[in-house]
Formats: sequence, structure tokens, C-alpha cells
Amino acid sequence: MGNDEAKRTAGYAAADRYVTSRMKVGMGTGSTAVWAIRRIGERLAAGEIAGVTGVATSSQSEIECQELGIPLRSMNDPEIGGRLDVTIDGADEIDPDRRLVKGGGGALLIEKIVAYASSRFVVVAEPSKLVDHLGMAFPVPLEVLPVARVPVMDALRRLGAEPVVRVAERKMGAVITDNGNILIDVRFLEPIDPVAMEASLSTIPGVLGNGLFTRVEPIVLIGHEDGSVAELGT
Ligand code: 5RP
Repeated sequence: MGNDEAKRTAGYAAADRYVTSRMKVGMGTGSTAVWAIRRIGERLAAGEIAGVTGVATSSQSEIECQELGIPLRSMNDPEIGGRLDVTIDGADEIDPDRRLVKGGGGALLIEKIVAYASSRFVVVAEPSKLVDHLGMAFPVPLEVLPVARVPVMDALRRLGAEPVVRVAERKMGAVITDNGNILIDVRFLEPIDPVAMEASLSTIPGVLGNGLFTRVEPIVLIGHEDGSVAELGT
């Protein structure tokens, strides 16, 4: 329960500090980002803010926004024009330079499109997400075109990684993403250069996206069980 409180604290702080009226907001995915969505919904319902438009990063955030009455558009909608004011999202790992691993919830491809097109990127997490080196404890996920599974896994092994196809729970076989693709989780045996690895993974044919986020400088809000929030990067 303590962990949930820390997540809620971080999500609420992000929605309170970084969302104002008429903003175009990227709605992140996961058990921490959902608290930011709920708080935005609360603030809209209370009339504290108005005219917020969201872009969902997953079916989870889409459903949450719809249930709260937060209007959604796509990145391509003329009202959004491919740019957002702020995105609030979770992370699986955060290193000392605020580079990230994301995609534990399988939404990394849209999450990256949305984060990289946002003027401000706010990451919400609890303290266990802070690590010294990315990709060693928590694997880096890749979204992969299903027909490219075997050549992509070969290419990953040549990079010195251990790739595993993510399998579903309560359904046999691979997890199929919101975009109809598979996920390959990649564990690295040695510390990686996250900037170089993000670029290398992107060059493998059939890899549509990877969970290393190194080309955005997020503000990171770390929530604690006692209700306090540490803000990194401001
Ligand atoms: C989903 C993500 C999530 O933001 C990440 O997995 C963190 O989730 P949680 O807040 O539930 O720990 O990247 O693809």
C-alpha cells in the first residue's frame, strides 16, 4: 500500500504543478501515470482548469481519459498539430542523468512518439526506479514487427544482449501491442552506453521502437510514502 501512496503522490504532483488550462497533454501509461490522469480529471471536474486536450499513449490511458470525460485527440489531429505542451508518464528505470528505460506496460512506441514531441516531459515514479545503470536489472523492451522476430533476435544476440519474446498472462503466446506488434525484452550483461544503444537498436530492420529514452531531458518527480516529492531536473 505504501508503494501505491508514493505513486499517487508523484502523479498528483505532476498534474498539479505542470498542467494548466488549455494545455495539450500526453497521457502516459502505467500504475503511476494513471494517478496524473485521475488528478487532471479531478481538476477539470472541479473547474480549477479548463480546455485541456489529451493524447493517449495506450488503450489503458485512453479508457481512463474516456471514463473521466477528458477529451482525446490523435497526434495527427489539426488541433494537436503533432506537438504537445507537456507529457506525464512513468518509467521503469531512471539513471543519474535522467535517462530512462520505459515500456514495462508495453506502450513504449507511442510513449516515445508523444514524449519526443512534447515541450516538457515529466516522469513520475517511486524511489525503486532510480538505478546506477540502465538495462541490467530491468530489460529494455523493443516493439518489433511480428514477421521480423527471428532476424531481430539474431541481431540482438550479436550486440551481446539476451532477447526474450514477451509472453502474455491469461492468454497463450506473445503479447500483442496496441499497434499489432510483438515485444522483445532485452537484457544486457554489461553496462551499456544508453545514447549509443538507443541509436543502434533503432537501426535493426523490423524494430519499430525501443524503450531507451535518452534524447529528452525529463523533469523527474519521485514520490515518497510520506507524501513528499523530490523534483529532479529543474
Ligand atoms: C508503460 C511504461 C510505464 O510508464 C512504466 O512501465 C512504469 O509503469 P509503473 O508506473 O506501473 O511502474 O513505460 O509502457
